[in-house]
Amino acid sequence: MVTTSGAVAAISEANDFRELNSFNLSFQLTGATMTTLQKTAVVTGSARGIGAAVAKRLSNDGFSVAILDLDEAACKVVVDEIKSAGGEALPVAVDVSDEQSVEQAVAHVAEALGPPTVLVNNAGITRDNLIFKMSVNDWDAVMNVHLRGSFLMSRATQRFMTEAKWGRIVNLSSTSALGNRGQTNYSAAKAGLQGFTKTLAIELGKFGVTVNAIAPGFIETEMTAATAARMGISFEDFKAGAAKQIPVARVGQPDDIAAMVSFFAREESSFVSGQVIYVAGGPTD
Ligand SMILES: NC(=O)c1ccc[n+]([C@@H]2O[C@H](COP(=O)([O-])OP(=O)(O)OC[C@H]3O[C@@H](n4cnc5c(N)ncnc54)[C@H](O)[C@@H]3O)[C@@H](O)[C@H]2O)c1
Repeated sequence: MVTTSGAVAAISEANDFRELNSFNLSFQLTGATMTTLQKTAVVTGSARGIGAAVAKRLSNDGFSVAILDLDEAACKVVVDEIKSAGGEALPVAVDVSDEQSVEQAVAHVAEALGPPTVLVNNAGITRDNLIFKMSVNDWDAVMNVHLRGSFLMSRATQRFMTEAKWGRIVNLSSTSALGNRGQTNYSAAKAGLQGFTKTLAIELGKFGVTVNAIAPGFIETEMTAATAARMGISFEDFKAGAAKQIPVARVGQPDDIAAMVSFFAREESSFVSGQVIYVAGGPTD
């Protein structure tokens, strides 16, 4: 975090202009504190659902936002919404599980929007089945998008964050990490992301980069709608059944997760790292 006094101290102590410049200081007065560093955020899987809500929230928070998803046309819809609300956004087609695709996408973001300092690893898929019916393809697909994808995206973006000496990575885990029938692949990936989060927090902390995870409970999106359809239940009944199990008596909305991402991305959250926050309308274990 670069506060007014912190920035002044940094300026007076910095003999080397290049070092100062590497902080990419662009001051804006916001009350008692001064912000900040490069404000470019990358949100994967943000053409819809939780990712789209996160992207819009980060735009409202003053970030330029790269909308990364499989289909560029779908990204453009969210980009247009952000732009018409006065924000800056860039559509970028990417397959997060593909190394070359990720490297190209991140390089494009850095060139077009500026070096990314916030990454939200949100892209996800489900391929649910009981283990005796689960194919190797369905196991690998889930591992590749959630785990490999978060690894590739984090590796590609951390170089900009460590250079800026400031960054935020937020990974989307799930309450399924604690166990959920029919989701051995998904729950293993989401539990894996929790270990990934803690280790990355240890590695990147000294560069001013925090790494945290959000583990949502039931959130109303196309992912949960598809689960209802697969189970042959109407989405309304599915949501009502889920809400009965949730202490706050409702299912979650994408904005509930966006609010938590917004908290982690703030400068003032710099002492919160390696944490997994369950955003699930109640305690989970
Ligand atoms: N909805 C929930 O109840 C819930 C609960 C816990 C965790 N989560 C997690 O939150 C995240 C977002 O979930 P959602 O409900 O918005 O899902 P969603 O299916 O609505 O959106 C996921 C997005 O990820 C994109 N995506 C998938 N594979 C990709 C790839 N290889 N490269 C790039 N983009 C890819 C999809 O195209 C889609 O736009 C996921 O990681 C999910 O596992 C969701």
